Amino acid sequence: MSKKMRLDKLLANVGYGTRTDVKKIIRSGSVKVDEVVSKDPSQQVDPVEQRITVRGESLLYREFVYFMLNKPDGVVSATEDRRDSTVVDLLSEEDRAWDVFPVGRLDKDTEGLLLLTNDGKLTHSLLAPKKHIPKTYYAKIEGRVTIEDAEVFAKGVVLEDGYETMPAKLTILHTELISEIELTIYEGKYHQVKRMFEAVGKKVLYLKRLSMGNLELDPQLSLGQYRELTQEELDSLQSSQKE
Ligand code: URA
Repeated sequence: MSKKMRLDKLLANVGYGTRTDVKKIIRSGSVKVDEVVSKDPSQQVDPVEQRITVRGESLLYREFVYFMLNKPDGVVSATEDRRDSTVVDLLSEEDRAWDVFPVGRLDKDTEGLLLLTNDGKLTHSLLAPKKHIPKTYYAKIEGRVTIEDAEVFAKGVVLEDGYETMPAKLTILHTELISEIELTIYEGKYHQVKRMFEAVGKKVLYLKRLSMGNLELDPQLSLGQYRELTQEELDSLQSSQKE
């Protein structure tokens, strides 16, 4: 299935520069649609059905993009917000042209792995509650996290609203006045990790997502940085949600 889109948007999407840059390229007469020069940036084109060339070079069109972001503290997992900056604001202008959205949410103060894509089908299946896609978090917790906490989490813990979570795997990395842990959960209720620790009388001081399904946060990405998924990562993510 293909769909029509503006010529300037298409060129920006595939990397010919910002919308302003590509408008100049189009107006200069370097772009042809089905062998006819187009000087109209707003022309509706079908990138699959039509042959589009820039200075004689054919466009290689892709419908979907997949970005891995290391989300920093202080930005919201949304595409627009009246008050706060959003994860989409962290993208370059060219990459924003893909109209991506975050796959699920991390709290404003949570850091780490967030997938951004315009592939609604993959998003939907990664978020489907019955798929139980594992998500692993690293956290700093106020107080000593104990083996008993791990046992409670392994059975499922009852949150303050009466909801009983699915069994979760708690690994204690370091336990002291401030403990460090990793927690894998198989669902994604609102503030789930924070609420699970509240249920055992503890407070999450810092939270970072390390992985989602088979996809792991690239340690080379600093906070606020992002990159496209490799083909291997994408294949592995797609197969993890089919299982
Ligand atoms: N659990 C939380 O409490 N917050 C998040 O951002 C993600 C999981």
